[in-house]
Amino acid sequence: MIEDLSFSVAKGEFFCIVGPNGSGKTTLLKLLLGFLKPQKGNIYLFEEDIKNFNRWERIGYVPQRFGVERFWTGTVEELFRKVAHKEKIGWIIAFLHLEDLLKKQFVKLSGGEQQKVLLALALTKNPDLLILDEPLTGLDIHAQEHIEGILKEISKNRTVVAVSHDLGFVLRNATRLLCLGLRECRITFPDQFGELIRELYGLH
Ligand SMILES: Nc1ncnc2c1ncn2[C@@H]1O[C@H](COP(=O)(O)OP(=O)(O)OP(=O)(O)O)[C@@H](O)[C@H]1O
Ligand SMILES: [Mg+2]
Repeated sequence: MIEDLSFSVAKGEFFCIVGPNGSGKTTLLKLLLGFLKPQKGNIYLFEEDIKNFNRWERIGYVPQRFGVERFWTGTVEELFRKVAHKEKIGWIIAFLHLEDLLKKQFVKLSGGEQQKVLLALALTKNPDLLILDEPLTGLDIHAQEHIEGILKEISKNRTVVAVSHDLGFVLRNATRLLCLGLRECRITFPDQFGELIRELYGLH
């Protein structure tokens, strides 16, 4: 259970959430996205109480596991067409190098390719805030570098909140980190995170 947690993310931050499996990272993102309600306390999005917030187009989300293949049999191109106008997504397709994937069925893509498409879908709204749950998991080293480069670029003019188990990624990119899974939740800076890693993951 997450208790006694209070934090705010400033515009332009690359805010990372870390912690062991089951520490509540995905749950916290779901709270921020309004999928779950907190038992206690308040959540504000763009300074508005989440209870009244309705500008969800300002937030892009890439979930940890996405069940799109369960209901979507079509191609990537059709999937894009469902969510955005062609003019709006041209730059995203070029930016993420998705041209070769457009004619393929989404289900037939590899995990890494699917991850890129999901990121592209999240960007179609041109969100001010991008929420990512383990954006690099399951990607090979080239795809990881590609996505990390893209996230760096994206974060220049957007706020990013990312859950990641990749501590290298976190240390290279985070402006601040929230650590879950300790006795109390802690917020730290990348250069102070080294001391916490052992405690956080129970290493001796
Ligand atoms: N819908 C649910 N109902 C009840 N318990 C849940 C639900 N979803 C998650 N949990 C539990 O809440 C805890 C936190 O889960 P969560 O998915 O937030 O962890 P996480 O930090 O994202 O872990 P991981 O690193 O494995 O993704 C876990 O013990 C999990 O079993
Ligand atoms: Mg998770």
